[in-house]
Amino acid sequence: MDGNGRWANERGLPRIEGHRRGADAVKRALKAAQENGVKIITLYAFSVENWNRPKDEVDALMQLLDRFLQEQLTELVKRKIRLRVVGRYQELPEHICERLSHVEAATAEFTDYTLALALNYGARTEVVDAARAIAQAAQAGKINPDELNYEQFAQHLYTKDLPDPDLVIRTSGEARLSNFLLLQAAYAEIYFTPVLWPDFDEKQFKLALTDYAARERRYGQTAEQLQG
Ligand code: FPP
Repeated sequence: MDGNGRWANERGLPRIEGHRRGADAVKRALKAAQENGVKIITLYAFSVENWNRPKDEVDALMQLLDRFLQEQLTELVKRKIRLRVVGRYQELPEHICERLSHVEAATAEFTDYTLALALNYGARTEVVDAARAIAQAAQAGKINPDELNYEQFAQHLYTKDLPDPDLVIRTSGEARLSNFLLLQAAYAEIYFTPVLWPDFDEKQFKLALTDYAARERRYGQTAEQLQG
């Protein structure tokens, strides 16, 4: 969800105004996802690197998240959308952790649609956390290292109960993944758009889906194999 800062700069507004508009775009994206039958949407809302931003901006982002969770609880329940957090969430401010746990618990029974929020997320941190957990399990004799395969490894990622993403969308014209779901996105289609996140609306969402629908996913096979 990149481009909030630039959206604000272009209008001579403070960066936080861009994030505020970004939060509105989050609500639109969530609605567009459900209306278009996208069952799981994962939003990269705060990375482990984002702590390095000025304190005012970090505080404002936490406040926006808190308000979003407060406002959206009823909406998520009404629309039967489950909330899942992906990331080191216990390191977030305590009141945010409590709010997240509350919303997760209140929506846990819903199985059709999921909103996953990547918070305090970094793919490298995730892999190291998984490696640590596996090493500990091996030390305790619960895992045989010689038999470890990717499926078992993936059971130690934050996304263990979520399928891999089919499509990754990055806004604002940057063409990089920035430490987002690096393992899970191994076979994902990637869509880069110059649109800044606050301007990403339902029309943009549909354009991304149409682009995705025209892709041929080969998973290492040849086009001929897939046709046969
Ligand atoms: C990147 O844009 C965006 C973020 C670091 C934060 C994303 C947060 C939101 C969209 C709002 C709050 C989230 C929720 C779930 C309510 P940037 O600031 O790096 O933009 P720039 O590259 O143009 O400076």
